[in-house]
Amino acid sequence: MLGRARQFFVSMDQRRSVRPFAADPVPRELIELAIATASTAPSGAHRQPWRFVVVGDPQTKRRIRLAAEAEERQFYQGGRTPEEWLQALAPLGTNWEKPFLEIAPWLVVVFAELHGVNADGSQRQNYYVKKSVGIACGFFIAAIHQMGLATLTHTPSPMQFLSEILGRPPNEKPYVLCPVGYPAADAQVPDLRRKTLDEVAIWNRPPASVTND
Ligand SMILES: Cc1cc2nc3c(=O)[nH]c(=O)nc-3n(C[C@H](O)[C@H](O)[C@H](O)COP(=O)(O)O)c2cc1C
Repeated sequence: MLGRARQFFVSMDQRRSVRPFAADPVPRELIELAIATASTAPSGAHRQPWRFVVVGDPQTKRRIRLAAEAEERQFYQGGRTPEEWLQALAPLGTNWEKPFLEIAPWLVVVFAELHGVNADGSQRQNYYVKKSVGIACGFFIAAIHQMGLATLTHTPSPMQFLSEILGRPPNEKPYVLCPVGYPAADAQVPDLRRKTLDEVAIWNRPPASVTND
């Protein structure tokens, strides 16, 4: 058990968000498996309130890139983003240009289903939608990484344009846009430090009578 836990940690610790992608093709079946894995995630009342829209055709990828870059140009240069946020992003070296949206072989756009729709057109309540979709995205990212592929959690802000381009209904809200593929041959990632276990884990000391030691 310990060996498997260590192995999984070491593997997941090697995951990085990649921004420069290669154009090399990736079989559709791998994307299907990543989505199937994501869909095993827990969800409020088991509503599975997620939809994964997969884009592989160059025309749609181009439309998404142009629309995303228009929003991102505003985000980075439009004067509406708080200076503190821009400073937090500076070490990552990101800017409004998003060539990976055309270069990566697949774009997987995750939508959150705000509510379901019954056969008679009435609304069916979903529960803990954002939490559920976030966990499913985590499973998706982990699955892609385990395959030896790369992805990025891209959140152009705002991202309503994705509903229009992809023709999604009003009860679905764009959640995250994940390019999937191989990293470019010369891809580099920011030199980041992850918090140590001590920085993120707080062990609430149990009463002596229930200790496991
Ligand atoms: C909710 C969320 C939104 C993000 N949005 C963006 C984004 O729009 N563009 C981008 O380049 N990276 C984005 N990232 C990636 C983060 O910058 C990245 O995860 C972080 O710097 C840590 O790097 P790592 O993923 O390589 O560990 C996002 C990550 C998360 C979790």
